[in-house]
Amino acid sequence: MENYEIYLKEAIFAARLAQQLQASYQEQGFDIESKSTQYDLVTTADKEAEKVIANHLLSAFPDHSMLGEEGGITGSGPFRWIVDPVDGTVNYAHGLPCYSVSIGLEIEGKVEVGVIIDSTRDDVFTAIRGRGAFINDKPIKVSKVTSLNQAMLATGFSYRIDQRKINLEFLDKTIGRGLPVRRLGSAALDLAYVAMGRFDGFWELGLSPWDAAAGVLLVEEAGGKISTLEKGPYHLGDASIVATNGHIHDELVDLLQSPSSSS
Ligand code: IPD
Ligand code: CA
Ligand code: CA
Repeated sequence: MENYEIYLKEAIFAARLAQQLQASYQEQGFDIESKSTQYDLVTTADKEAEKVIANHLLSAFPDHSMLGEEGGITGSGPFRWIVDPVDGTVNYAHGLPCYSVSIGLEIEGKVEVGVIIDSTRDDVFTAIRGRGAFINDKPIKVSKVTSLNQAMLATGFSYRIDQRKINLEFLDKTIGRGLPVRRLGSAALDLAYVAMGRFDGFWELGLSPWDAAAGVLLVEEAGGKISTLEKGPYHLGDASIVATNGHIHDELVDLLQSPSSSS
């Protein structure tokens, strides 16, 4: 457990370096390219921020490996850093101040340490498994809302059109019946905000491991619940994720899985 404190300390340091790079590229300007689709963007900041995170963590822990969104896999072994250097790149590219840095440490297949920096609010979310979740060192808990009718929800849209269309049906079932549903554009922040009770529930299709690694740990450590849309246990890279305060979990999943009005 003692080592976990050291992993967390270095993860925060690395995330801070990435946050500083994000800010300086917003000042000085950056290049933007497309990735999987015309709308899936990568900027100079994504690439450079991932490099500083990798340099820091793999120098501090030379026997650790890393999975980064931009650089892929480096090394192998039971300790694996899972890194999203800019979560919310489309927001970032447009200068919309809603993006983050997300770093999780997986040990033998289980995320044990996580950090998310809400870059422009300058809030640092942290968790170590079994030790609770925190914002700026203050403990956080999921919300106490017990009914979907009182819930504030969030979702996100992957870059895959087929998944977007399914999610539009989910929006019909939620927004379409009057529920408030937000779409921030940073899944790491969506999960961090479930952990601290700003959102009562969140779902998305097609998240990648780096979008979810740190956020899932935060939600669990804040007392929330995570599953797939089929109510099975969620594993990084699964096709769907639902994260809630626990109380509204079944109600939300049942609503999303209810027959569509068009079918
Ligand atoms: C994206 C964001 C967005 C989510 C997408 C992710 P990126 O990550 O988290 O909120 O809806 O599924 O791919 O591309 O900004 O790192
Ligand atoms: Ca991401
Ligand atoms: Ca990213």
